[in-house]
Amino acid sequence: MKIRLGVNIDHVATVRNARGETYPSPLRAALLAQKNGADSVTIHLREDRRHINEFDLKQIKKKLKIPLNLEIAATNEMLKIALKSRPPFICIVPEKRKEITTEGGLNLDYKKNFLENLINKLKKNKSRVSLFIEPSLKDIKKAKKLNADCVEIHTGKFCNLINENKNYRKELIRIKNVVKFGNELGLEVHAGHGLTYTSAKVLTKIDGIKEFNIGHFLVGESIFVGMSSAIRSFKKILK
Ligand code: PXP
Repeated sequence: MKIRLGVNIDHVATVRNARGETYPSPLRAALLAQKNGADSVTIHLREDRRHINEFDLKQIKKKLKIPLNLEIAATNEMLKIALKSRPPFICIVPEKRKEITTEGGLNLDYKKNFLENLINKLKKNKSRVSLFIEPSLKDIKKAKKLNADCVEIHTGKFCNLINENKNYRKELIRIKNVVKFGNELGLEVHAGHGLTYTSAKVLTKIDGIKEFNIGHFLVGESIFVGMSSAIRSFKKILK
């Protein structure tokens, strides 16, 4: 079964922001992703705006024809922005100011009532809501209880093992079991974080993952082969 590819373009904005310039343009990257077969475009509006900002969100939301997937932390500020912008997809992620990237999945016990309320408000506003979680059976169960539509499994640990040429079998089985359980509970299951051509290819062997969200490696690879080519290579892997 074909797996959807979500292209995360945050790091196009990271390069732009490194010089405080107006280029490279995240909007241009989003439209190029769309042209080359991306099924959705992902952007993470961080509290510190280290990559994309509200102006990017507004522009991309207005011009993009494929679904926009907005990643946000569970805060009042982000809830307000997400309700106003109403992207078709939303993924709730944990956020720590000092981290380099999203280091792990959500703690679903922290501010549980707030989280539940936030999910329901976003769903009522017609956004599909996903929760970014660790590959844990307990968290899958909690995500279902919180009324999420989807879960996105944090694949960071698995990808690191592959990158370091270490044995990844145990972690792969862990992900496999979680994907199966998520599907049994009626959740749509996605995967993301740290994915490369190699790790994405291994994960396609697991049945039941409907969407991959890929950013950092893809933007890096674009330096050498161009973004169109990098996206098409991932599309081939996900076929
Ligand atoms: N999915 C989620 C929920 C994320 O927060 C991120 C970025 O941290 C990604 C996917 C993409 O990860 P990467 O940039 O490592 O491909």
